[in-house]
Amino acid sequence: MASGRKEEMLMEEVDLKVRYKYERSWITGEKIAVLGLIAVGVVLIIIGIVLLAMATSKSNNCAVDSGIDSTSAPSHQTSERCEFSAEAKRIGLDQFVKKNRTDISRALFNEISYKKVNSDALKPRERKTLAQVEHYLKQMFGQPYDVNYYAGDWMMGPNLFCWQPICYHGYDFYNGIIYHRPYTAEDVELIRTKLETHKKGILQYIDNMKMGIRKGMVRNVESCVAGTHSVKRKYLNVSLYNETGIWKEWFAAPLLHPDFYSNITKQIDDTWKKDHGRNVSDTVKEYLLTYLGKPLHQLIRFLEDEYIHYCVPSSVSSGLGSLPLKYVWYDGKENKSWPTDPTLPSGEKLNGRHSYSLIMPFFTTNDMEPAYVHELGKTQLNKLYPMVVEIAKDVMGVNDSDQAVALFRQKLNSTDSFFNDAPIPKNETDEEAHKRCSNLMGAETYCPKRWAAMQLWFREARRVG
Ligand SMILES: *[C@@H]1O[C@H](CO)[C@@H](O)[C@H](O)[C@H]1NC(C)=O
Ligand SMILES: *[C@@H]1O[C@H](CO)[C@@H](O)[C@H](O)[C@H]1NC(C)=O
Ligand SMILES: *[C@@H]1O[C@H](CO)[C@@H](O)[C@H](O)[C@H]1NC(C)=O
Ligand SMILES: *[C@@H]1O[C@H](CO)[C@@H](O)[C@H](O)[C@H]1NC(C)=O
Ligand SMILES: *[C@@H]1O[C@H](CO)[C@@H](O)[C@H](O)[C@H]1NC(C)=O
Ligand SMILES: *[C@@H]1O[C@H](CO)[C@@H](O)[C@H](O)[C@H]1NC(C)=O
Ligand SMILES: *[C@@H]1O[C@H](CO)[C@@H](O)[C@H](O)[C@H]1NC(C)=O
Ligand SMILES: *[C@@H]1O[C@H](CO)[C@@H](O)[C@H](O)[C@H]1NC(C)=O
Ligand SMILES: *[C@@H]1O[C@H](CO)[C@@H](O)[C@H](O)[C@H]1NC(C)=O
Repeated sequence: MASGRKEEMLMEEVDLKVRYKYERSWITGEKIAVLGLIAVGVVLIIIGIVLLAMATSKSNNCAVDSGIDSTSAPSHQTSERCEFSAEAKRIGLDQFVKKNRTDISRALFNEISYKKVNSDALKPRERKTLAQVEHYLKQMFGQPYDVNYYAGDWMMGPNLFCWQPICYHGYDFYNGIIYHRPYTAEDVELIRTKLETHKKGILQYIDNMKMGIRKGMVRNVESCVAGTHSVKRKYLNVSLYNETGIWKEWFAAPLLHPDFYSNITKQIDDTWKKDHGRNVSDTVKEYLLTYLGKPLHQLIRFLEDEYIHYCVPSSVSSGLGSLPLKYVWYDGKENKSWPTDPTLPSGEKLNGRHSYSLIMPFFTTNDMEPAYVHELGKTQLNKLYPMVVEIAKDVMGVNDSDQAVALFRQKLNSTDSFFNDAPIPKNETDEEAHKRCSNLMGAETYCPKRWAAMQLWFREARRVG
């Protein structure tokens, strides 16, 4: 459908922009930490505690992320990448730390909010830092999704934009591993230990989503499908070639390069081979498969084969507002004999509206509540709509408002307003197309209509830009 196509393109465009901003803002989170140290005394203490808190919430295994001076590596880096041992999970430590982390962020935010700061006495630069730190803490160390324990959205799986930390395992992995070039057999063991934490993290994520089903925190079908597509895009080669695709992922490349093992002497390699049956580089290659490829593939399979059944029709839930659900749904049907348990593991009641109000402020620069924003939207609509009607009358040369609006709508929806002159064929949109058209050459060959529309779009963008 023409309009569908247009929307999708717009979405992708927005996606790119937003993600760019996201990646930058994430990094500024850390720059802020540094700036903060220089600026206000208050901030200095706070940051100290922030770092301390982050450090304590990391197990020793988390060293894979720390101490990284990433000048050449991709700049993306998540601060939370601490997976847990089976024992930790058994006693609920994983949930606890997430909660604790949220609590710490919240406590620090309260602390800084209650400080009587005379902003006028601060230099502009200091004021900016203070505002940034506030925003940073209010938003759980500067991230919107899946990080506030109380929002409960961390049970809901990836969304269209794939902003969730799960979508950035590749970056985390890369940023950590390039500083772990092995010298000894112990170093190789250490690589295994690091990789193991990734596997645990991914499996934990699957478990969280299963919990979301039981707690009534699930997205609608469209949103689930979009989220699945975006995860598959992040781990494209795993999605295309099963777990062995991990060897083709860009972030695994350093470990497959002989340079990575240049400090392993022949003697060490031979000893290793005697003990383990294969040489060091082959062993690490196998680790990649076991600890990253397989769990990632499992995640994709879970999303596509299992989880999707539990996603609800969009008439039931279109966002957080109507969550948690009262009953578990399966294939679009409510299962009245399976009520959900709409609470957090620590007992608090889940409330989608409240979750929304926790997440929304990340995207604003003020203290507006969602209800206020909603009202504001209506006020704006009342103000702007009459102007649009006037424009419609003018453009269509019609005096009757209703008629003018109807005609104007038609004009906007006509093929002249789109880059494709006919609906995109079904076989350029389905699962097969997602595979075959996932790179430039494939797209040009197998999705010609989509490709042509995109070229027109690019041309237009260049002309306008
Ligand atoms: C976080 O956990 C630590 C250690 O268990 C505890 O001392 C601290 O009070 C907790 N912080 C919050 C804000 O709950
Ligand atoms: C994964 O793909 C590879 C190469 O295409 C194939 O040899 C292997 O059997 C597949 N593994 C599984 C578990 O399907
Ligand atoms: C997937 O694998 C292909 C072929 O090895 C490679 O050219 C491409 O860069 C890989 N894509 C990603 C996202 O790593
Ligand atoms: C490790 O290997 C690199 C080359 O890849 C070399 O520059 C470096 O000197 C080696 N380090 C040691 C301690 O052998
Ligand atoms: C490790 O073993 C593989 C397969 O046996 C081989 O292709 C590779 O060259 C070996 N690497 C080194 C550094 O000896
Ligand atoms: C509904 O839920 C109950 C309890 O979990 C389960 O036994 C039953 O199989 C479910 N029915 C359907 C149609 O999924
Ligand atoms: C619209 O109305 C104005 C005045 O009310 C009149 O002058 C004009 O001719 C009308 N235009 C059309 C297209 O009917
Ligand atoms: C827009 O046009 C498509 C067909 O080109 C049609 O299916 C759709 O209903 C139209 N939408 C509106 C709002 O008129
Ligand atoms: C869709 O069908 C067209 C025409 O039959 C064909 O050229 C194209 O390769 C197909 N695309 C895919 C992704 O199968």
